[in-house]
Amino acid sequence: MDQFKIEGGRRLEGEVRISGAKNAALPAMAAALLTAETVRLGNIPRVRDIITMAKLLAHMRCRVESPDIPPSSFVIQAKTVSHIEAPYELVKTMRASVLTLGPLVARFGYARVSLPGGCAIGSRPIDLHIQALEKLGATISVDHGYVEARAKRLRGTTFHFPKITVTGTENVLTAAVLAEGETILENAAREPEVTDLAALLIKMGARIEGAGTSTIRVQGVEQLHGAEHDVIPDRIEAGTFLVAGAITGGDLLLKDCCAAHLGAIIAKLRECGVDIQSEGSAAGRDALRVRGARKLTAANVTTEEYPGFATDMQAQFMALATQAHGVSLIRETIFENRMLHASEMMRMGAHIVIEGNTAVVTGPARLSGAPVTASDLRASAGLVLAGLVAENTTVIDRVYHIDRGYERIEEKLRSVGARIERISRPG
Ligand code: EPZ
Repeated sequence: MDQFKIEGGRRLEGEVRISGAKNAALPAMAAALLTAETVRLGNIPRVRDIITMAKLLAHMRCRVESPDIPPSSFVIQAKTVSHIEAPYELVKTMRASVLTLGPLVARFGYARVSLPGGCAIGSRPIDLHIQALEKLGATISVDHGYVEARAKRLRGTTFHFPKITVTGTENVLTAAVLAEGETILENAAREPEVTDLAALLIKMGARIEGAGTSTIRVQGVEQLHGAEHDVIPDRIEAGTFLVAGAITGGDLLLKDCCAAHLGAIIAKLRECGVDIQSEGSAAGRDALRVRGARKLTAANVTTEEYPGFATDMQAQFMALATQAHGVSLIRETIFENRMLHASEMMRMGAHIVIEGNTAVVTGPARLSGAPVTASDLRASAGLVLAGLVAENTTVIDRVYHIDRGYERIEEKLRSVGARIERISRPG
C-alpha cells in the first residue's frame, strides 16, 4: 500500500490544470448502457474509480476502449451486454457501481447489482434508489446481498425524494429516460454532476427538463442513440487546490475549472481572507487565481447539498481552519461519520474538539509532521493539505483512497513547489 511523504512548509506557486469530474464521469459511463450505439466520453479523470467502472462495463461485455493508458477518454458501446450483473468484488471497491442499476433495468428489463453496504463515512443505504425504481414499476428483491430488479417496461411516475440523494437522482433519471410516459422527480439533487448527466442523456435523445433544479421532468422515449460528451471539471479537485494555495500562503492559477460550480467554496474561502480572482474564461473553462492571506480568519461551515458547501470539501476546509485565527465550527450534515480526519489532524497538533456532528477548530495551531492514516478519499486530501503546512515530515498511509478520486495529486502538487513523494510499497 503506497504512502505519501510530505515535507511541509513550502509556499505553492504556479499553474495547475483541473481534471474532469470523477463524480460526473461515473454516471456518464453507466449511461452508456442505455444504448446499443457508441458513446464517446472526454475529459475523463485518470483515477482508480474510473478504471473500476470501466472494468465493470467490460465485465458486462460492453466494448470499452481508450486511446491512452490510463484513459482520459472512452469509447463505450453496450451493443451486446450479456452479464447483467455488478458483482460484489467490484461494488465493494466502488459504491458508484450501483449507478448501473437504473440503466440496466430500463433497457434490458433486468439487473442484478451487489448491495454496496456501509463505508468509512457512514451507512449509506440505497433505499431511495430502490423505492423510486419500484415506483417506476420495477419489481425489486434483495437476496444474498444482491438487489435484483425486473420490469417489462418502466412506466413514468411522480417520485418525491424524501431526502436529497445525488446518485439516487442519477440512477432514477437514467431509468426514467426509457420509461413509458412522463416521470417527475421532486426534491431531486441539483449538483452540477446531475446536470452534466442530463446534458449527456439529452445528446443521446432523452427528453429532460429541469435538471439543476429540484424538479426534473422526463418524457420517456423508446430508445436512445450514441453521443459525444466532455464531462465537467472537477469542482472538488478545484476546491482542494484553492485550499492548497490558501493554506500555504501561495499563489496558484487553476486552469480549466468551472467557477460557477465553486460558489459556496469561493465565498467561504473569501470569508477567511483568501484572495480568489477570475483570470478569464475560454471555451467554457475558467482560470482562477488564489492567493493566500497573510492572516487567515476563522469561519463556520455547515455542509449542505448543492448549491451549499459540499461535504466533499469538509476535510480540506478543516485543514485550513487549523491555520485560521479564531474558532471555526464545522458542521457535517450529509454523512453521519465523516470526521475521522479530525483525530489524525489532532495527532499533528491541531486543536479540534468533536461535539456530535460538529468539529470545533481553534487556530492557528502549529502542526508538526506525524504518521497519519487516510480513512476515505476526501479525508486523505485534508491530511495532504495539513501535511503541506506541518513542520518536518508527514507520512500518510493508505493513499489508495486518494488515488480513487484525485489524478496524480502528488505530481500536480510537486509541479507547484510542494515536497511530496509517493513511497510505493507492495501489498
Ligand atoms: C455522492 O454520493 C457522491 N458520490 C459523494 O462523493 C458525495 O459525498 C455525496 O454524493 C454527497 O454530495 C458520487 O457522486 C459517486 P447521497 P451518494 O446519496 O450519491 C442518504 C466522494 O468523495 N441516502 O447524495 O452516495 C445518505 O446516506 C464521494 O467523491 C439515503 O438515506 O450520496 C446520505 O446521508 C463520497 N438513502 C445522504 O442521503 C438513499 O437511498 C446523501 O447521500 C441514498 C442516500
